[in-house]
Amino acid sequence: MNWRKLRVFLLTVLALCLIPATRWYQIDEPILRYFRASHDVDPLALHLSGEFVESNLGTEQNSDGSVTVRMIAQQYLFVPHCVLVPAGVPVHLRVTSADAVHSLAFNGTEYNIKVLPGTISASRLQFARPGEYKTMCREFCGAGHYAMRSALKVVPRDQFPALQPGERGTCAAQ
Ligand code: CUA
Repeated sequence: MNWRKLRVFLLTVLALCLIPATRWYQIDEPILRYFRASHDVDPLALHLSGEFVESNLGTEQNSDGSVTVRMIAQQYLFVPHCVLVPAGVPVHLRVTSADAVHSLAFNGTEYNIKVLPGTISASRLQFARPGEYKTMCREFCGAGHYAMRSALKVVPRDQFPALQPGERGTCAAQ
């Protein structure tokens, strides 16, 4: 065994490990998300079956008073185009992409959710006050990126309607 070579080799490995160890915050968030998230959604079959079929998109009321909102981001729109949620309750957002990397941002809030094809981005939001929040895509995703907008409408909790089947993905049901 050549100890000098081994020492050089080990020092090189150590030096290479130090780079990501000290610069981990520079690693692109979508890459980390890709390794962490579940990969059980096929972007090409979203509308055919599973959690993101059209009838399942929008706002679902949970028994604990919170709501779950499911959305699809695609070039160049968010589906549903308008989402209705009650104020002051946890909003469990689940969103996936049908094509490119998008980012779902709620104007006037800190919320900015990266959306990747093949993975489900799950986050917990909450909106204290009623109002309308414009949502927009904040990740450049192609020619129509700047037109990729939608809305989130927050209504007082006691005015939130009992959503009938087929009304999950609309703001008109109130
Ligand atoms: Cu989607 Cu930019």
